[in-house]
Amino acid sequence: MATPRTFAIRTFGCQMNEHDSERLAGIMVADGLERAENDADADVVIFNTCTIRENADLKLYSALGQLKAVKERRPEMQIAVGGCMAQKDRGEILERAGWVDVVFGTHNLASAPALLKRARSDGPQLEILDAPDPEANRDMAPALYAVRELPFAAWMTIQTGCDNTCAYCIVPSVRGEEISRPLDDLLEEASMLVGTGVSEITVLGQNVNSYGRDITKRGPLFARLLRALGEIEGLERIRFTSPHPKDLRPETIEAMAETRAVCPQLHLPLQSGSDRVLKAMRRGYTAERYMEKLSAARAALDDVAVTTDLIVGFPGETDAEFNESLEVIAAAEFDSAYTFIFSPRSGTRAADMVDEFIADDVVKDRFERLKQVLDRSALLKHQARVGLREEVLVEGPSRRNDAMLSGRTRQGKLIHFPVTSENLRAGSLAMVEVTHGAPYHLLGELSSVVRAPRHKVRIPLLSS
Ligand code: SF4
Ligand code: F3S
Repeated sequence: MATPRTFAIRTFGCQMNEHDSERLAGIMVADGLERAENDADADVVIFNTCTIRENADLKLYSALGQLKAVKERRPEMQIAVGGCMAQKDRGEILERAGWVDVVFGTHNLASAPALLKRARSDGPQLEILDAPDPEANRDMAPALYAVRELPFAAWMTIQTGCDNTCAYCIVPSVRGEEISRPLDDLLEEASMLVGTGVSEITVLGQNVNSYGRDITKRGPLFARLLRALGEIEGLERIRFTSPHPKDLRPETIEAMAETRAVCPQLHLPLQSGSDRVLKAMRRGYTAERYMEKLSAARAALDDVAVTTDLIVGFPGETDAEFNESLEVIAAAEFDSAYTFIFSPRSGTRAADMVDEFIADDVVKDRFERLKQVLDRSALLKHQARVGLREEVLVEGPSRRNDAMLSGRTRQGKLIHFPVTSENLRAGSLAMVEVTHGAPYHLLGELSSVVRAPRHKVRIPLLSS
């Protein structure tokens, strides 16, 4: 019997892309390939790319450059490039890296095996669809089909694309318009996942709280989805990312508050605290409106952790406007934040504001000042949790210390604690008392084991 060909997937970008890579792995396994033990020996190397910032593009071309010599040594090795950057650059990838065999986009993951086969007989293949093809779109198939990293936690994409027009963002042009998956399909998928022992599902979408707007004229269905997911027995934790502040409705907050399985965690991207900059970004809210929504969420949701995204150095951002952001950020008391330096993306409105680009040294200085405010806020939040007993879903041994386990609290915080029970394995639920708070994690001591892992199937681990 011939040895199966092997594949490796290298993923750049957001959780949506991570999840796409899981599905891609599932598609490759279904086609008879096996995951390579060692990426360097794989028969097929697939890059699932991101293009949110310029350095994401540079990272891909640098990785492709490193593979050129390997391809010369092993011409039978195939290289495929998919995802957001492939969707944007299309044939340019084959022009710049002639040793690439296949380029596919965000709408046709499921085509990858056929394209790889065709490339072996007919040479390089390029296939980019401008919109998802419902027929060919098996890449929207249930996550069960996927090869997941954690057998007890899963992502579930509820919508693709985005109908917003944020001035800096390239996502709508590479992921297309918003398309929601049918509610029944999602509930069926979630039930199937729980049937295999999944106890935590993170719902993914570019703007989750507009979920369903394209399905019914009666408005978004996101709150209904949360409540319906909360009815699935065995689904202990539901998280979601990302809601858009302008679309965060009271009914979503109510559904969060009234659905026990929905975790007390809200990722609400602020981007800037200056109204002029928010307007130039086309975000659709003011700092005051954002803070009102945040206060409403905090009032309704017991002990909710709030995280955000921030962009530094948007074209035209003055020192005074940056200081306004710092004030709003300090008042918002975020648990943590993803901070980004503005990166112009060709085809977006902000990329044309060249005359207003901010000098690198100014942006770097602002970035450092912002980080200080955020780190201080994160540290205070974490220190305030010392002495609390948190429910932790154990993820496995700590990456830094074998004698420790790591897991996530219901608020989504990373916590490490010493192994003091043989009954604890990845997927177990435990109560852990917080003993120390650092800006990016908590430390604790095991109080009790709540339950053993539930997952029944052994799912191969993704290589990172
Ligand atoms: Fe981009 Fe704005 Fe859509 Fe988010 S909401 S994906 S930032 S266009
Ligand atoms: Fe995500 Fe990057 Fe695409 S952030 S949606 S992988 S451009």
